[in-house]
Amino acid sequence: MLVDIPQVLDAAEVLRCRRRLAEAGWVDGRVTAGHQSAQVKANLQLPEESEAARELGGLILGKLEGNPLFLSAALPARVYPPLFNRYAAGMGFGNHVDNAIRTLPGQAARIRTDLSATLFLSGPEDYDGGELLVEDTFGVHSVKLPAGHLVLYPSGSLHRVAPVTRGERLASFFWIQSMVRDDARRTLLLDLDTAVQGVRGELPAHPSLLTLTACYHNLLRMWGEP
Ligand code: NI
Repeated sequence: MLVDIPQVLDAAEVLRCRRRLAEAGWVDGRVTAGHQSAQVKANLQLPEESEAARELGGLILGKLEGNPLFLSAALPARVYPPLFNRYAAGMGFGNHVDNAIRTLPGQAARIRTDLSATLFLSGPEDYDGGELLVEDTFGVHSVKLPAGHLVLYPSGSLHRVAPVTRGERLASFFWIQSMVRDDARRTLLLDLDTAVQGVRGELPAHPSLLTLTACYHNLLRMWGEP
């Protein structure tokens, strides 16, 4: 399932990120790539331990903690500290699957990557090409969102970033270990939660709301790992 999460950052926060990234030191993006994806990856990244990455990563995580759609769609157990990438003209990232397990930087703990997130920091008008292309059983989905918007997609899906042909594409990217590992179950829980919220808005006193809410929590209890 692909989920667009609009306006994770507002215009002022996007500007703050872009200003900070403009003065940051970038390195070859292959530092976080596995052997196979390193062969198709051509972009720049902020070093994980850089002050700019920590500061802006903290801003993003803080915003996500208060974002109901992100929480409902991802059901996050652990979130990898956000990383930042930059594709100038001629850069791109060929088809790959993200590494399944990652060690959290500076810690012994590991994270299973259930979901990948891309937070767009450049607007679609800032560059040509640079679409995130995600494959699933329904075909290839092309994603190019306004600055400040985020997309969630299954980390196990084949995906790529089309070559940028004009301008520059700045983004943050990171991974999430979900309390619900299976994408189909997570999709069902999001659909159920969204439907319950919709009914609650229109018919707040409807007696079935209690049963539907109980079903949601009992499915989460059945499938979730804290
Ligand atoms: Ni990837």
